[in-house]
Amino acid sequence: MPPAIVAITRREEFSASHRLHNPELSPEENRRLYGVCNNANGHGHNYEVEVTVRGLVHEQTGMVMNLADLMRLLRERVLPQVDHKHLNLDVPFLEGIIPTAENVAIALWRQIEPEMRRYEGCHLHRIRLFESRSSFVDYQGPES
Ligand code: NI
Repeated sequence: MPPAIVAITRREEFSASHRLHNPELSPEENRRLYGVCNNANGHGHNYEVEVTVRGLVHEQTGMVMNLADLMRLLRERVLPQVDHKHLNLDVPFLEGIIPTAENVAIALWRQIEPEMRRYEGCHLHRIRLFESRSSFVDYQGPES
C-alpha cells in the first residue's frame, strides 16, 4: 500500500477537583468571572481526555503506533498525576496555573509530547479534554 497518514486516539478518564480563581483579581471579580467555579473549597469533575497521535502507518506493523503503548503511557505516567487530585494543590506541573480546561489541556500536552519523541514517524496531534459531557477544549500544540 502507498504511504498513508492516519490519526489514532486513545480516550481515558480521570476525576479531579479544582477551583477557578485568579489571585490577582478581587473576590468580587473572581465571582463574576468564574461563578460557581470560584467556590472557595473547589468542586469536582469527571474529566475525559482524548489523546490523538498522527503519523505514517508503518508498512511492517500496519500501525501508526501501538494504541496499547499510548494507553500505558497515559495510565502509568500521566493520569496518576491528576486522578483523584486537587488540581490547584496536588499537581506539580499545574503549580501557579489557573486550572481551566484550556490550561489543563496545555499542561497535559507538555507532559505527553516529549514522551512521543521516541516513536518514529508520528507526533502528538491533539489533546481534547472534556470537563463535562457537553463541554470540551482542544489543544493542538504551540504551532497551531
Ligand atoms: Ni470546574
